[in-house]
Amino acid sequence: MRVIVTEDYQELSYKASQLLSAKLQKKPESVIGFATGSTPIGMYKELIQSYNRKEVDFGQMSTFNLDEYVGLTREHPQSYYHFMQEQLFSHINVRPEKISFPPGIFSDAGQACQSYEDAMKAAGGVDLQILGIGVNGHIGFNEPDQHFTLYTHIVELAQKTIESNARFFGSEDEVPRSAITMGIKSIMDARSILLLASDRNKAEAVQQIFSGKVDPQIPATVLQLHPDVTLVVDREAASLL
Ligand code: GLP
Repeated sequence: MRVIVTEDYQELSYKASQLLSAKLQKKPESVIGFATGSTPIGMYKELIQSYNRKEVDFGQMSTFNLDEYVGLTREHPQSYYHFMQEQLFSHINVRPEKISFPPGIFSDAGQACQSYEDAMKAAGGVDLQILGIGVNGHIGFNEPDQHFTLYTHIVELAQKTIESNARFFGSEDEVPRSAITMGIKSIMDARSILLLASDRNKAEAVQQIFSGKVDPQIPATVLQLHPDVTLVVDREAASLL
């Protein structure tokens, strides 16, 4: 595992955007797994600036997002689809037909999950997966559990996650109780992984990634088994390493 410790959030965002741009320069048709949450926002801003300076081109890129809230339409202001449009996609030249998202609304959950897995496979698999990390060590919406769930699935959100994500909604009551997320194997199948963590409140979760023990109660610990993971963390998030 490669660890890049930065002075602050700004440098983290810049370094992470450079790594993603380098991947696209090398392989313009890369399949990128995108993540939501507040951590990658700075990186997305940097990518938009690089695009405006014509340093990077997204015209051939395909995308698969990690997760979505169940019950929210794409147009809902708190949906992750809407988030990605606002924070990145509407500002760059990604082709709309190359953007894939797990659906928040579906009639058959099993089929919705399977179709998402099939679409990732048909695209040739994810080249680079961006990840944030929850304070409880969740990745995507893979919450602490007795076991890992391998593929895209529906998950009940942990109370801790509902509380930390309430800041994006009017109140805690408005946070959806379930989500559709790539599973642990869907994430681990990515050829490379870039995990971003910023702030003191992520320090314990980051420290656990290096525990030497893979534990589904701290889902991010599974990353120790992946051959190509880069962590970009600011000094505060790295403070317990
Ligand atoms: C959400 C997302 C995760 C994200 C996490 C951390 O729960 N599903 O993919 O990593 O939040 O978010 P933040 O970066 O805002 O701390």
